[in-house]
Amino acid sequence: MSKICINIAWPYANGPIHLGHVAGSLLPPDIFRRYNLLLGNEVLMVGGSDQHGTPITISAEKCGMTPEEYADKYHEINKKAIEDLNIHYFFNKTHCPTHFEVTQCIFNKLRENGYVYVKETDQYFCPKCDRFLPDRYVEGVCPKCGAEKTRSDQCDSCGTTFEPGDLKEPYCTLCGSTPEVRPSKHFFLKLSAFTDRLIDYVKDKDYWRSNVKTFTQNWLQDEGLTDRAITRDMSWGVPIPVEGWDDKVIYVWFEAVIGYLSASIEYSRQIGQPDYWKEFWKNPECKHYYFIGKDNIPFHSIIWPAILMGVGGLELPYDIPANEYLMIGGGKLSKSRGGAIDIPSVLQKYDADVIRYYLSAVMPDTHDSEFTWEDFQTKVNTELVANLGNFFHRSLDFSKKNFGTVPAGEDDPEVTKAIEEALAEYRACLDRCDFKKGLKAVMNLSSFGNKYFNDAAPWKLVKEDKDACGKVIYNVLRIVQALAVLAWPYVPAATEKVWGFLGNAGTVQDAGLDAACKAPAVGQTLNDSVPVFKKLNIPELKEAKKEKEQPQQPANFTGPFADFRKLDIRVGTIVSVEDHPEAEKLYVLKVNLGEEEPRQLVTNIKSIFPKDYMMGRRLLVISNLKKAKFRGVESFGMLMAADDEGVGGDHLALLKPNIDVPDGTKLNCGMENSSSRIELKQFEAVTIKVSSIKDGKFMGKDIKLPANAPRMVTAIVDGDNVIPFGDGKDCVITVDDDSGILDGADVR
Ligand code: MF3
Ligand code: ZN
Repeated sequence: MSKICINIAWPYANGPIHLGHVAGSLLPPDIFRRYNLLLGNEVLMVGGSDQHGTPITISAEKCGMTPEEYADKYHEINKKAIEDLNIHYFFNKTHCPTHFEVTQCIFNKLRENGYVYVKETDQYFCPKCDRFLPDRYVEGVCPKCGAEKTRSDQCDSCGTTFEPGDLKEPYCTLCGSTPEVRPSKHFFLKLSAFTDRLIDYVKDKDYWRSNVKTFTQNWLQDEGLTDRAITRDMSWGVPIPVEGWDDKVIYVWFEAVIGYLSASIEYSRQIGQPDYWKEFWKNPECKHYYFIGKDNIPFHSIIWPAILMGVGGLELPYDIPANEYLMIGGGKLSKSRGGAIDIPSVLQKYDADVIRYYLSAVMPDTHDSEFTWEDFQTKVNTELVANLGNFFHRSLDFSKKNFGTVPAGEDDPEVTKAIEEALAEYRACLDRCDFKKGLKAVMNLSSFGNKYFNDAAPWKLVKEDKDACGKVIYNVLRIVQALAVLAWPYVPAATEKVWGFLGNAGTVQDAGLDAACKAPAVGQTLNDSVPVFKKLNIPELKEAKKEKEQPQQPANFTGPFADFRKLDIRVGTIVSVEDHPEAEKLYVLKVNLGEEEPRQLVTNIKSIFPKDYMMGRRLLVISNLKKAKFRGVESFGMLMAADDEGVGGDHLALLKPNIDVPDGTKLNCGMENSSSRIELKQFEAVTIKVSSIKDGKFMGKDIKLPANAPRMVTAIVDGDNVIPFGDGKDCVITVDDDSGILDGADVR
């Protein structure tokens, strides 16, 4: 049995936590905690609400609350949300006496040891507000990556941290005016004194995730360590334990990381064993893990270790499995597309296990991943419900109905092998905090279980040879038990139920990981079971789909739209390109429009596009023009191209669909059209233009585009009324990205 200390990044008590927090830093440690409990390890797991810092004072001010009221409100909300997700740990808060005491004690200790000193520095000061401005009251442009609206302490886009004066085009967020940089006295942490020790500390961390190790080494090597101010000009925070410093407080990041230690101490006091924390923090055998998001890396891999080194006698982080970001995406995640993503709202609609499963399956461990409600529904239904849930239910239901107790049998070596292999893979993954891959091992065993059940066809066998069927079921129930154990860290509520359906006493947690390789006791009474996961049917998604399928109709059909409706434009593929026998400048093309025979078209673009560019290309053809003859060769239809002569360019580009729609697909922008033969002048009456989209607008006008829209877009333009040119659904017409064509080019 080992001791493990699991530390969790402290979410700001600045609003409700959302799915990103859970996937990033809250769920992984709970999976790890539960895995360690299965192994029989002793776990101390701490974290809480980060209640100080300027974002909270700003938000509180906006709602007319004190920072304390505001931060306590969200502390309670988030504490409950986390518990409701079955994520269990000692959830402290930074605005509490023990945290003040421990922070001040560490501050004093570092000062005694010569690692904290006073220095006068430059500081933003707003002349209009007549006050020093904390970091977040100043925003501007990141000098490194150019991101706008960047806070003055750190850039969210590129991760660079700043000192006062670094930011370009700074402004005061309170009044908008330009702040000055003025000198002010602050306490500094002598980070520079730790460079060598930190380089040494990181050197052998080969098991760290490469993003964490690389980021840290780059910081240490490229940028070097500069001393950092650890106090700020504000009143909300941990007071500085030195006389005459009442108008300043300790910097939120300096004290928040100390929260790991202070929470461990507070927990020990609350359980009546005030020295309990020492078994973890003063024990070289105890491994300390920190679960955080990637924006928190330097605070945990450099600053916190430096503080711990400066104090001495406390364990350094063993591993810092930082996750990347869960992008809440698919474009807009509005209420209409599935609903809010804050945890209290999500929990009103979905079981904790379902959320835990999905976020484990898309966990952003090595790269950013994307959350959409569509994918949530799909993965839950096709994986969790159809695979694991189905296996649990069919196995338990069949066993109970036909046998009532665990039937006698022998271990089928095939099943033993499947369980042992899954277990080995699972342990290898979870030992290195690779939870996404660990879940795959579980789901693969579940697939094996379903296949084993299908192949044995117990529903037939039970009629022919009940004993033989019992032997199959004995092995099926072994797989059920193994899955209940292995899946427990991910979906604890459902698997505890399955444990009970098997007739097992106690809990999965008590049984431990060894139970994965054991069979439920022969003869033990099975309990009535119910499906533990239910299929999702998110109503908002259906509506969104309907909306999408409904063609966008312009208000009325007049002018260009009326003319457009007369065109029959189809997507085609060029199947042959030949020179015109008589005319040097013409090609004769054969184009497949999904009709019986390819169409023959004569075109005059030979001087611009070589044959191998044309051959096999997707293009658009106006297919209901009257037949014509060019120098004796018949042409039926016209290909569509754009030129930017009208806007001062000299490029020509062939139009093409942005997605792979079948040949013959009609591009009517979702409008009804009449497809009698037309004259060229009727096409010429329609204005179709090409442009890139800027700020969501097409040449400055509103346009409604599908989510997958390309960079360059064509649209029918009639005054302010702009309709994307396409099939009215996902297909939008575009041009080659490198065509060089200018915005505003005409299609002819
Ligand atoms: N509140 C910080 C954030 O949300 C995380 C603080 S973690 C701690 O980014 F280490 F400082 F505790
Ligand atoms: Zn930046």
